[in-house]
Amino acid sequence: MTLNEELYKIEQDAQKALEEAKTTEYLEAFKLEYLSRHGVLSTFLRGIKDASIDEKRTVGSRANTLRAELEQKYESKLSVLNKGSVRKIDVTVPGKRPAQGHLHPLTIVRREIEDIFLSMGFEIADTPEVEEAKFNFDLVNMPKDHPARDLMDTFWLADGRLLRAHTSAGQGRVMTGRKPPLRILIPGRVFRNEATDASHESTFHQFEGMMVDKDISMADLKGVIEVVLKKILNRDDAKLRFRPTYFPFVEPGIETHVSCLFCKSGCATCKYSGWIEILPAGMIHPNVLRNVGIDSTKYRGFAFGGSIDRLAMLRFGISDIRLLWSGDPSFLKQF
Ligand code: DAH
Repeated sequence: MTLNEELYKIEQDAQKALEEAKTTEYLEAFKLEYLSRHGVLSTFLRGIKDASIDEKRTVGSRANTLRAELEQKYESKLSVLNKGSVRKIDVTVPGKRPAQGHLHPLTIVRREIEDIFLSMGFEIADTPEVEEAKFNFDLVNMPKDHPARDLMDTFWLADGRLLRAHTSAGQGRVMTGRKPPLRILIPGRVFRNEATDASHESTFHQFEGMMVDKDISMADLKGVIEVVLKKILNRDDAKLRFRPTYFPFVEPGIETHVSCLFCKSGCATCKYSGWIEILPAGMIHPNVLRNVGIDSTKYRGFAFGGSIDRLAMLRFGISDIRLLWSGDPSFLKQF
């Protein structure tokens, strides 16, 4: 190969390498290979020292021209690539969706309960969580020494007050000094000083309702309960049954059972009975009406006090009540 041919080959290779350099790293490698002190061109120029004067002149000057040309191309390509790296945004890459919050399952169910009762003409009331024993117990017919008082595992405060153990504590607050007809709903947090397990939590939520007027009867109670539960459980075909039970603040007291939402023949949720206990209620005890200043010979009423947590669990199929307070995102994002 003559020197001319050799130089021609170098030129071809260098142009090709330059063309193929698509990143600054490749461009730097090109510079090192062809333009540096020990690069291909310098080595070539050093190698022609034994050639004839004529050859040295023509090939030498061609080689120098080529070097200048390559250096200039290198510079301009470098500036193009550098600009590109600043602006290199791939607009086709899918964006990161910002995490978006949503309502807690308890809030969803509480709001639904409130909406249903509002549509039936109830007013919504908020009463204190830190409460006096008078409201939590005495006014709802659980005077001192009443055995049922001990059954409620109550958080007592040093000053003699307590964390309300049930929303029934709000009955005295909202009814005292009012004249029937009354239709009131008190949703809120309640507290029990007891061990927790899959169905017990030291903090949970109740909705207390009461309706007081001249001719209120058990039939009204049943009617209201039926409408509300079917709506909230989202089950028009749910069957309800009522069983007598005892609560100090009602007479008679009832338990409401709903046909199991999860099985036809028995499962763990209904304890293989086909029925789920869901809403305690009753006709307000005349003592309670008297305690809040309502004439129990003229007026009657019903009351109920259900667990919002329980309804949320049944509605969404949640198996452990403690998940509701866990704040666990992997649980919460399912709603
Ligand atoms: N306060 C009761 C409890 O927490 C629930 C309850 C039962 C409320 C019957 C009522 C009622 O208003 O009539 O266990």
